[in-house]
Amino acid sequence: MKWSEKLGMRGLMAGGMVFLFLCGMVHAQKTTLIVKAGENGKAISSDLFGVFFEDLNYAADGGLYAELIQNRSFEYSPTEQSDWHPLKFWELVKRGGGDGSVNVAEMRPIHENNPHYALLVVRRPGEGVGLANDGFDGIPVTGGEAYEVSFWTYQAFMGEMWGRGDQSRAMPVTVRLETRNGELLAEAAFQIKGREWRRVSAKLKPSRTVPDARLVLLAHEMGGLALDMISLFPEKTFRNRPNGLRADLAQAVADLQPKFMRFPGGCLVHGGGVRRFYNWKETVGPVEQRRARRNLWGYHQTMGLGYYEYFQFCEDIGAKPLPVVSAGVSCQHAGSSPNRGQEGLPMDEMPAYIQDILDLIEWANGPATSKWGAKRAAAGHPEPFGLKYLGVGNEDAITPEFKERFKMIYEAVKARHPEIVVVGTVGPFPAGRDYDEGWAFARELKLPLVDEHFYMAPRWFWDNLSRYDRYDRQGAKVYVGEYAAHDRDRRRNSLRSALAEAAGMTGFERNGDVVQFASYAPLFARRGHTQWHPDLIYFNGTRVFLTPNYYVQQMFSRNSGDRALEFELQRDAQNGPLAVSVVRDSRSGHLILKMVNGGDAAVPVSVQLNGLPDREFPVTRTVLTGPGPDAFNVDDQPPAVKPVAEEIRLRPAFEQELPSHSLIVLRVRP
Ligand code: AHR
Repeated sequence: MKWSEKLGMRGLMAGGMVFLFLCGMVHAQKTTLIVKAGENGKAISSDLFGVFFEDLNYAADGGLYAELIQNRSFEYSPTEQSDWHPLKFWELVKRGGGDGSVNVAEMRPIHENNPHYALLVVRRPGEGVGLANDGFDGIPVTGGEAYEVSFWTYQAFMGEMWGRGDQSRAMPVTVRLETRNGELLAEAAFQIKGREWRRVSAKLKPSRTVPDARLVLLAHEMGGLALDMISLFPEKTFRNRPNGLRADLAQAVADLQPKFMRFPGGCLVHGGGVRRFYNWKETVGPVEQRRARRNLWGYHQTMGLGYYEYFQFCEDIGAKPLPVVSAGVSCQHAGSSPNRGQEGLPMDEMPAYIQDILDLIEWANGPATSKWGAKRAAAGHPEPFGLKYLGVGNEDAITPEFKERFKMIYEAVKARHPEIVVVGTVGPFPAGRDYDEGWAFARELKLPLVDEHFYMAPRWFWDNLSRYDRYDRQGAKVYVGEYAAHDRDRRRNSLRSALAEAAGMTGFERNGDVVQFASYAPLFARRGHTQWHPDLIYFNGTRVFLTPNYYVQQMFSRNSGDRALEFELQRDAQNGPLAVSVVRDSRSGHLILKMVNGGDAAVPVSVQLNGLPDREFPVTRTVLTGPGPDAFNVDDQPPAVKPVAEEIRLRPAFEQELPSHSLIVLRVRP
């Protein structure tokens, strides 16, 4: 590099902390990191890294929600997918000369929110007539483990689809777990008697492990049965919660140690448009009374994973709940109104909608004696959930309709619940019209926190390391609610994209006085049902596949702090992109250095932790790297990109090589 070029580099200092020192020699300048480790730095958010859960890619039903039966309540509909109907994923089974039929009924539903059920008619019992379900691409069962099968039922007779039979006798029913070839894995027997809906259940323990079993329910006498909510749950859910979460997927989230969890979306909160916004009230209470509905992403939501389960999960993993509600407008991409498709809820319906939002706060935080707090208590949680943050709106176009409705909601929440921090929205992109107008609106209302989103190329993350250095310290704080580096091939995660995110996260951390929260998006994707790439965690029925991006999130979240320390990075301009942040965790007193090398060459760094006594300290060094920037973790193979941790000892001045394409976290315990 020529002298003139070197001098020109002075203007290109990234992050405001990168200094190019010219030594009067043409030799490459060694990279030096000088940390003011004896100082207290500045206060930053101790809740910076969390997760964002949205039911996209079968993240809830067929995913985190542990229910193993698909279409358990016969509510699938052609509004979801054109070939779906209430009996979709169910098969009529006739064994050993048996004969009968199945129909969908809605004359005597369990509850008005759950209108359809199946009417099974047995004309000739043979060895059984009934229904079979393969779950979500087969039902995975583990030999020797317990599963609870349950269903709602009553005896149906003449007049209801001609179910004849002797009314004085019970209907014998067996429920079996079988292999695809019909081999029996487990069985339970029931006697169903009476004309009123009731729930029956039993424990099934399959004799062996099978990834793709099926559930078969057989009636064994002539007559009829009404059937609904046919359900199969593993006993071992996350923390053994009833109606709980799939343990391995929930554990993958818990292992991130997220400080908060945003839910239920994303675009999902807009639901089916005005009057069909995602409605939290339809997602709480007994599961058979919840209103299943079409998911905005084109499939079915049972709402079995509802607000109670979200809040309980947050509590179980120590994450602050951050629910998001619609701002009273539909998604701008959904309709054809002049406001780029956005429609506002009619003004005369806003008071009721706002009341629903206030009720949510009472449901989460009110005493068990309050109207909505009592419903939470009845569900099993008398103590308040401690809701503090509430998102209003998601990526909305900042139109007059949006502003008017947002302001109404914001002012009502502020007046009734000044303790709640409302999170506003500044559009879908990191810049542009909605971003500018959203920020102007946030300033006008003096909003405490706004939600920014960016799905950008890896290069963009590197080019914008100093984005938050320039933000107004007196204005709203930032929640980077959705972000991901989308690599050239958008359908795949890679080490390159993970490191770009890591670089961006050093910027969030250095500016943790402005950036309060950040969450990667989307979180989950089921193999075979993935609608959006890339995602953080992939899975199938039995396995979880962690991406390089997941490990980056984990390394940051598990090594977060509450003070950002100043440092100088004196670097050789010939090196590739480097990003650094240094934090202290006041509780443990640990000093945590994060260094990202996005270049093709290893970078030796001389580190000086100024202000620490000159002796050896125990240090945990965690390195994430891989065979190259395109490396990704292939399902069913050992991950190519996975962090490796080791315990070492270091003095305050030491040499650390940053391998090419790597993230290194040093946790120093002075
Ligand atoms: O994360 C997927 C989608 O991306 C979210 O639903 C939406 O908010 C964003 O556009």
